Amino acid sequence: MNISYLILGIVAWSQSSNYSEAEGTKWAVLVAGSKGYWNYRHQADICHAYQIFKRGGLKDENIIVFMYDDIAYNKENPRPGVIINNPKGKDVYRGVPKDYTGEAVNSENLYAVILGNKTAIKGGSGKVLETGPNDHIFIYYADHGGPGVLGMPSEQDSVYAIDLIYVLMKKHASMSYKKMVIYVEACESGSIFDGLLPKILDIYVTTAANPHESSFGTYCGDVIPNPKGYEDTCLGDVFSVSWMEDSDKCDPMTETLEQQYISVKHRTATAKGESSHVMQYGNLSLTKDILADYLVGNSSIGSHTYTAGQPEPSPLLFAVDQREADLIYFKGKVRRAPEGSDERSEAQKELDRVISQRKHVDQSIAAIGEALFGEEKGLSILNLVRPAGHALVDDWDCLKAMVKTYEECCGPLKTYGKKYMRAFANTCNAGVPIHRMAEIATQVCSSKKLI
Ligand SMILES: *[C@@H]1O[C@H](CO)[C@@H](O)[C@H](O)[C@H]1NC(C)=O
Ligand SMILES: *[C@@H]1O[C@H](CO)[C@@H](O)[C@H](O)[C@H]1NC(C)=O
Ligand SMILES: *[C@@H]1O[C@H](CO)[C@@H](O)[C@H](O)[C@H]1NC(C)=O
Repeated sequence: MNISYLILGIVAWSQSSNYSEAEGTKWAVLVAGSKGYWNYRHQADICHAYQIFKRGGLKDENIIVFMYDDIAYNKENPRPGVIINNPKGKDVYRGVPKDYTGEAVNSENLYAVILGNKTAIKGGSGKVLETGPNDHIFIYYADHGGPGVLGMPSEQDSVYAIDLIYVLMKKHASMSYKKMVIYVEACESGSIFDGLLPKILDIYVTTAANPHESSFGTYCGDVIPNPKGYEDTCLGDVFSVSWMEDSDKCDPMTETLEQQYISVKHRTATAKGESSHVMQYGNLSLTKDILADYLVGNSSIGSHTYTAGQPEPSPLLFAVDQREADLIYFKGKVRRAPEGSDERSEAQKELDRVISQRKHVDQSIAAIGEALFGEEKGLSILNLVRPAGHALVDDWDCLKAMVKTYEECCGPLKTYGKKYMRAFANTCNAGVPIHRMAEIATQVCSSKKLI
């Protein structure tokens, strides 16, 4: 065949399919970083995302799922074996690959998966991003977080922003992807990338929140009733539900990442109750790409049809602070248990434990701030927010050491306590040496019971 005909053919094909990047494989890494039935929504988000990539024609071998997997068959689940991400939603659990579950959901495995390093994997399916230079990668993370960190199911484990950024730089240096898109739902998720993610990595990021605000759960049954049995369970998160419900109904062959960002930002900003600011980081040129560049497998391009028809307007979402969602659940459990029953007193004890752990952290940090910087200035120094474009902390090893020292003296921060990561960062930024933190934290916490 004449070579020019061949080239003409390819050009015609790529124009007709409106698709510019025929080469390469699409990959997805989906991470739910929490466990516990009160965190139902994160695993529901991740399962929903799986269904989007699956429908887009990505193969299971190219979709890597991290989830603790303690929801579907939890004794609290009113529909065993089923997970929903919307009050009217269908099961999203079906078919989800169990690559990394239970203890295998951890930061070391996540880094090894991203870097494609099979020998570093412990447990799990061993599936990693075995990507080549033309491949596209989509990473989606849904969980609790705090300034500079994303949670993992184990209390002792977190993804520190600096470690994730380092992994991404290493991935870039190995020249094993063309473009990468990262969506993150977590409190203070902007702090993972702000002032840290270099633009040259060909990575585009969008986060549920800016560096200094919460992100929000939704479908919590408080305003619009959830189905029976889900009364006090948040089924999704505002940012997550917004991007996924958008992906469910839009045409991925024409909608761009920028258009999706605008629609998600708007739906998140107009959520009832409270709202967060959806942010963008990294190389924003990628936002011109169509969603299909990431959500639709190459062999499905063209054959991928959308039956959504006339898109309905997205219903208003009701937002619940991620840090309050578990209280709703624990309070609901008390309320629903029969008065005077053992079940009720157990539920009450659980609720009291959660509340007293929070109080203990709040009081300890306030007392440490006062001891370090004085009564007047203590809290304002701890809460100081650096201007946009500046990383949370200069010395990340100091931050890790501060947190470790605090936890040794005062007990684990746990999910709620991660909101004080900025306080520890600011003690580092103020030049407080670790031994001083150890001294003060010992004084403050030795008299108290560790929780
Ligand atoms: C499409 O993706 C498959 C893997 O899913 C890959 O093997 C193949 O090379 C890709 N095709 C093209 C034309 O890039
Ligand atoms: C993969 O992980 C192993 C074990 O942690 C490590 O020794 C090795 O250097 C890593 N390989 C690469 C290419 O990073
Ligand atoms: C951003 O991405 C575009 C498109 O992939 C690329 O041409 C440009 O060089 C990138 N910018 C930087 C600063 O790397």
